[in-house]
Amino acid sequence: MNNKKMSNTNMKNNIITLKNISKIFETEELETHALSDINLTINQGDYVSISGPSGCGKSTLLSIMGLLDMPSSGEYFIEGAKVSELSLDDAAEMRNSKIGFIFQSFNLIDELSVFDNVALPLRYHHSKPTPQTIKDRVTECLTMVGLSHRCSHKPNQLSGGQQQRVAIARALVAKPAILLVDEPTGNLDSKSGDQVMDVLSELNKNGTTICMVTHDPRYADMASTQVQLLDGMILQVPQAQIAV
Ligand SMILES: Nc1ncnc2c1ncn2[C@@H]1O[C@H](COP(=O)(O)OP(=O)(O)OP(=O)(O)O)[C@@H](O)[C@H]1O
Ligand SMILES: [Mg+2]
Repeated sequence: MNNKKMSNTNMKNNIITLKNISKIFETEELETHALSDINLTINQGDYVSISGPSGCGKSTLLSIMGLLDMPSSGEYFIEGAKVSELSLDDAAEMRNSKIGFIFQSFNLIDELSVFDNVALPLRYHHSKPTPQTIKDRVTECLTMVGLSHRCSHKPNQLSGGQQQRVAIARALVAKPAILLVDEPTGNLDSKSGDQVMDVLSELNKNGTTICMVTHDPRYADMASTQVQLLDGMILQVPQAQIAV
């Protein structure tokens, strides 16, 4: 009823909320405060970049967002669900259905064709899609990254940039709520890197929510929200993105 009074931010679907997230790694002789008191909100359709010097906590933050690691303290919500209250099985299910990962090293399986690499998340999907559904969706995703003509190739028959685009198609195939991307161009020459970034920008224009770690200021500039990390703390983030 009061829709007109709601701000744009409130009307958008919230994908990720981090509240006072900290992460301490403890080894026998050392305690590393990798993240300290991180507050961040990512809404549907956002394109967030995370930048900062080596060791400042970027990958740790992405691992926590992607349910690959747990925070030492703080609260974390994915689409409103409190992650710490999920069972291990539910957390794994959440990771498989809501998160798409893209890493610096493409992490493709060399023995499988491009098609089968992209199809893999669907073959283990809880919705148990039919072979035809899998075929249609894999073809759709390979078309989105401009590689439908390479579906029978093996990853090692492709250039680095093409392999990263296959990894993007694989990350997209199960329609995740968010793509988490860690240094996608780190292993690529600048031309291939630019092509990969163009694909990510295009996906975001079409509605995909992206959170991307990058060292490169040119690529960080492509994001609509730029987060700077230093020593595990957020240096600057636009007011609208801070969780309340
Ligand atoms: N499993 C771990 N055990 C102990 N310390 C860790 C672990 N993982 C990360 N760290 C430490 O936490 C800090 C943050 O590491 P992280 O990998 O998040 O940095 P980063 O910003 O991604 O760096 P880079 O740009 O080099 O990839 C570093 O000091 C690192 O040594
Ligand atoms: Mg890293």
